[in-house]
Amino acid sequence: PAAPPCSFVIFGASGDLTRRLLLPALYNLAATGLLSEGFSIVGVARHDQPPEEFRLQLQDSLKEFATQAVDPETAQWLLSCVTYVSGDFDNDETYAKLGRELDRIEQNGRTKGNRLFYCATPPAAFAPIAQHLAKAGLTREENGAWRRVIIEKPFGTDLESARELNRKLLAVLKEDQIFRMDHYLGKETVQNILILRFANGLFEPVWNRNHIDHVQITVAETVDVGTRGKFYDVTGALRDMVPNHLFQLLSLVAMEPPSRFDANAVRSEKAEALDSIRQVTEKEAIAMSVRAQYRGGYVGDREITSYRKSPDVMPGSTTETFAALKLEVDNWRWAGVPFYLRTGKALNKRRSEIVIKFKNAPVSMFRNLSMDELGDNDLVIRIQPDEGMVLHFNAKVPGPEIQTVPVGMTFQYKDYFEAAPATGYETLIYDCMVGDAILYQRADGVEAGWRAVQPFLDAWEKAGPMGMHTYEAGSDGPEASEHLLEKDGRTWRSLY
Ligand code: BG6
Repeated sequence: PAAPPCSFVIFGASGDLTRRLLLPALYNLAATGLLSEGFSIVGVARHDQPPEEFRLQLQDSLKEFATQAVDPETAQWLLSCVTYVSGDFDNDETYAKLGRELDRIEQNGRTKGNRLFYCATPPAAFAPIAQHLAKAGLTREENGAWRRVIIEKPFGTDLESARELNRKLLAVLKEDQIFRMDHYLGKETVQNILILRFANGLFEPVWNRNHIDHVQITVAETVDVGTRGKFYDVTGALRDMVPNHLFQLLSLVAMEPPSRFDANAVRSEKAEALDSIRQVTEKEAIAMSVRAQYRGGYVGDREITSYRKSPDVMPGSTTETFAALKLEVDNWRWAGVPFYLRTGKALNKRRSEIVIKFKNAPVSMFRNLSMDELGDNDLVIRIQPDEGMVLHFNAKVPGPEIQTVPVGMTFQYKDYFEAAPATGYETLIYDCMVGDAILYQRADGVEAGWRAVQPFLDAWEKAGPMGMHTYEAGSDGPEASEHLLEKDGRTWRSLY
């Protein structure tokens, strides 16, 4: 059904996120009948321009970034919902203007007074926007109308700043008004982990330390730092990807079954799982991690300049573009089952996947086959691209001799479902409008994530250039990352 009526207010309306993702996502929602007739969009940005001009810009971005063929009538309708307010995000006057605009829109009751404020801005603006909105009374929920705020990534840069941001937001908004975005939760395959585990009886009985040897989570990217040097050089691979995207995957794999499928129950279990990650000392953090920077090279036939020579990157930068961690989850389900995580840029393949590596048969009863000759039992959950799953096991080679080969039982999304190409933001935006926060992060989950990575951040900062490895752009990462697993007698699933 269509979402409830509302005004969708975008701070940072002239930015990249709005053009590339938000508007195409809103279009897709409109095209599938999921937006209410009582819908309006208010763009807020610094640039002083009439609404018509803003509408034209949006029209252009839709042409450029729509994920499917644009139906002129739907586009026309969507653009007719758009207005614009100019002003600085830290100026009271902007919010007074916005208030007047919302009053005007809400006069005829079309939007029922519901408001969704989307902070598509640099992170420094998140708290000031929420504070100003509250001060101007724009987030006060009254007469049954809801007021919600979506906060984009990054949510803080370490544990302390994330806590501080939560404190500031929670001083002016209720937790159920705050929607902390992690776009990984918008991915179908990520959501499917819950279904795989809890809508089937098959997997859960073996989903524990008795049957699982270890878990690997890989988010490999082929993109390099590109033009994002300014942001990336003060961020690095660990902050950019691990406490958010990789931990979404980890917590969905590691969590206990929730008591029910609702936002609070699910998020409590996810936060609990992250909270069980062992707090390591800085010394342990060094031993259990690898960081590296890419050198020049080729990803396919694309030439990549070395990270340190990229625009807006400090020449002697010690920021990592690759991070690998070994984490222990100290609870009854997972004690002794390491979770190995790795992520990096300028690698040879774009691939996000989870490998659940099961314990092998305890002995080889086939005398001619040693244990080493048997293939692994594992379940590979492919998040992107080629979404799907493969279960690997051993099968007998036909013939009189006993010989085995590893084979795979494969499920691919594309064989079963025809999903229209989308931005990945559709479900997230829709869920916020209907008030379902299951795919958004709660304060405790975000903080638990930062708490787990903080020892690594601290240890790496102290070590500076010491212990920084390099890898060739277009390779599958630094050798040191292989050693991290070899030390434990294990290997990463190959990226090739
Ligand atoms: C963003 C990071 O949050 O996620 C980027 O800032 C990264 O550095 C991106 O490239 C990856 O998202 P996806 O959906 O392409 O896997």
